[in-house]
This record gives sequence, C-alpha cells and structure tokens, in this order.
Amino acid sequence: VTVNLGARSYDIIIEDGALARTGALIRQVKPKGTAFIVADANVQGLHGKALLQSLEQAGIAAKLFSVAPGEGSKDFKTLEKLIGDLVGAGIERGDVIIAFGGGMVGDLAGFAASLTLRGVDFIQVPTTLLSQVDSSVGGKTGINLALGKNLVGSFYQPRLVVIDPGLLDTLDSRQLRAGYAEIVKIALVKETDFFDWLEKNSTAVFKDTPQRTQAIAAACRLKADIVARDERDLDERLLLNLGHTFAHALEALTNYSNALLHGEAVGIGVAMAFRFSVQLGLCEPADMQRAVRHLEKAGLPVAARNLPGVTAESLLNTMSKDKKVTDGRINLILANGIGKAFISRDVDLKKLAAFLRQEMR
Ligand SMILES: NC(=O)c1ccc[n+]([C@@H]2O[C@H](COP(=O)([O-])OP(=O)(O)OC[C@H]3O[C@@H](n4cnc5c(N)ncnc54)[C@H](O)[C@@H]3O)[C@@H](O)[C@H]2O)c1
Ligand SMILES: [Zn+2]
Repeated sequence: VTVNLGARSYDIIIEDGALARTGALIRQVKPKGTAFIVADANVQGLHGKALLQSLEQAGIAAKLFSVAPGEGSKDFKTLEKLIGDLVGAGIERGDVIIAFGGGMVGDLAGFAASLTLRGVDFIQVPTTLLSQVDSSVGGKTGINLALGKNLVGSFYQPRLVVIDPGLLDTLDSRQLRAGYAEIVKIALVKETDFFDWLEKNSTAVFKDTPQRTQAIAAACRLKADIVARDERDLDERLLLNLGHTFAHALEALTNYSNALLHGEAVGIGVAMAFRFSVQLGLCEPADMQRAVRHLEKAGLPVAARNLPGVTAESLLNTMSKDKKVTDGRINLILANGIGKAFISRDVDLKKLAAFLRQEMR
C-alpha cells in the first residue's frame, strides 16, 4: 500500500515474515545511516533479536533504546530522556529512527523523530493489531498531558511502514480484540463490501491466516486513501473518528486505566454512534443491529452501562469538553448506514442528553 503525499509519499509493506526483511527494506529508502531503534521493552524482549538480525544482515549499524511499556511513557519526561539519549549516542540528520512496538511507542518515537535535530527520518514497525491497522499510518505523533491524551504532537509522516502480521502471534487476545475494533470502525465508515467480508471472515482474522493479513492490508489501504486526500484532519479524515467522541469520554472517565482499552472504548463508541443515528431517524435499525452484532461477536463491549464513574451526566460533560460546544450544538460523526458515516456539525445537545440517559438506563 502506498500513502500518496507527493514528495512525502511512502510505502506500507504488509507481509507475513516482513520483520526479517526490515533491514533490506530500509536500505531501499535510506541507502546510508545508522538505525536508532526505539523499542517497547516487552516487544524488545520478544522480537528484538529478530529485528537486530535483519538490520545486521543488511549491513545497517544499530543502537537500541528501550521504553517502559504502557501509556505512561507517552509523556514529556520520557520524551526528554529519549531525545537526550538519541543525541547523546550521536544521532545525525541522515540517520533513521525505528519505532518498534504498539501505538504507544509509535506515537512517542515518531514525535521524538520530528523534534530531534529538527527532524530525523523515521520508520514504523508496528507490533499490535491496533498499530498495524491504524496508528502507524497517517503520521500523527504525540504525547499526553495530564489534561488529556494526545494534546501535544505533530503531523510527521514516516518514510516506511513495515507490518509483519506474524508478530501478532505473541499479542494477547484482549489487545487483539481492541485492535479489531478499529478495523470494524474503518469498514463502517466507508466500505460496505469490507464489512460484509469481515462478517464472513472475522474468526479467521483472529488467527494466523491469510485473512488476517488481508484484513490488515484492507484497513491500511482505506486509511492511506483517506490520509492522502486529507492529511491534516480537516474534513474526510474526521470520519475516522466514528465512535471516538463517545470513546474518548469513556476513557477519560475510567482514567485511561486497564479497565477499558482504547479499542474497547471504540467498540462501545461505535455502537453508541449507530444507536444515536437510529434515534435521530438517520439510520435503519437493521444496519445498526448488524454493526452492533458484529462488534459483540468479536468479543467487544457495546454498551457503557456498568462502567465505574460513567453516568449520563458525566458523559455529557466530558463529551462537551472534548468537542467544543457552540450554541448548544456539538459535532459528531454519525452514520446513515453500514459504510455511510458522515460529519454532523450541529447535533442538538438536548437530544444527545436524552440519548445518553436512555443508554445508561
Ligand atoms: N497516531 C495515531 O494515529 C494513533 C491512532 C490510534 C491510537 N494511537 C495511540 O496508540 C496507543 C495505543 O496503542 P496500542 O493499542 O498498540 O498499545 P501499546 O503500544 O501500549 O501496546 C499494548 C501492549 O501490548 C504490548 N505489545 C506490543 N506488541 C506486542 C507483541 N507483538 N506481542 C506481545 N505484546 C506486545 C505492549 O508492550 C503493551 O503492553 C495510544 O497511545 C493511542 O493514543 C495513535
Ligand atoms: Zn482509535
């Protein structure tokens, strides 16, 4: 898959066993330079040797920097230490940073790459399903503030993305399901055919099968096309936030804890966006039921009831803070059906409040 962004275009290589070819693939886009690997410590333990071996075979000198797993590492302290370590180890403009891990390391290392020496090339080698289908593509990088997630960052595209679905064999099933929520989301946004395909093939997607690779490739292709048309999130790319205004509020209310992974919040959020669309008379109930049933079949949560700290009032407050409210109206991504998401720029807050009360009943 190619992300077409003129001079900043890049390829996403999706192939079982691609990790072993990473060195050779890097040499095709960067004939020279040392590799500075920024690795999630868990991933380093599981797959670090294989990556180092691949670089060595391609004759690429490499240095490894390990980051503690978990969302807590996406902060200024870790960023400062990381950039200090990279510069201390002698990184130069012509070198390359490799983000090796899930979305956490991808966002952190990508942001560090955009800042170090005013910008060093970087390559994504995503290792979770979520990062393989979503966060490694599109160039959003950043860290969190106490005030909220991803509030500091940059648009900084990688030079290459290397996706090896085989790496998912070591990922636990809960993380897999969470990543799958983003695949379902992207199908529901734009691609009825892809959603039909997922309904038939989801069981295989969760295993080491060709369908797993196919699903990842399809999701990347859809995201790449959208990013090529709207890199900076001005209109079409906003559709990828289907379910996310609900999801972000749920994550904030559960303190970004292990109680609710991002992908799980997205499962609930997408289901809520469809139910709200039905309530507003914008979507056929049958389409909503299909979407919700598929999320449930994948083992994802689809309702916010019973989550600690989540009430209709707290949800409404948090959502209004996340999305600016003007004249009692809020922007939301809603759906006219499967594959038919749209940006609704003037949702009546009173209608939203009534919907949330019903959801939490
Ligand atoms: N930039 C974007 O466009 C974008 C989009 C969506 C999400 N994100 C960000 O992505 C982050 C979440 O990413 P994530 O879901 O990948 O979580 P993560 O990076 O925190 O990884 C989840 C867990 O899986 C472990 N892990 C990773 N790869 C593994 C493997 N192959 N085998 C075994 N364990 C493995 C990690 O150590 C970690 O414990 C969030 O910070 C979110 O804000 C960014
Ligand atoms: Zn998401």
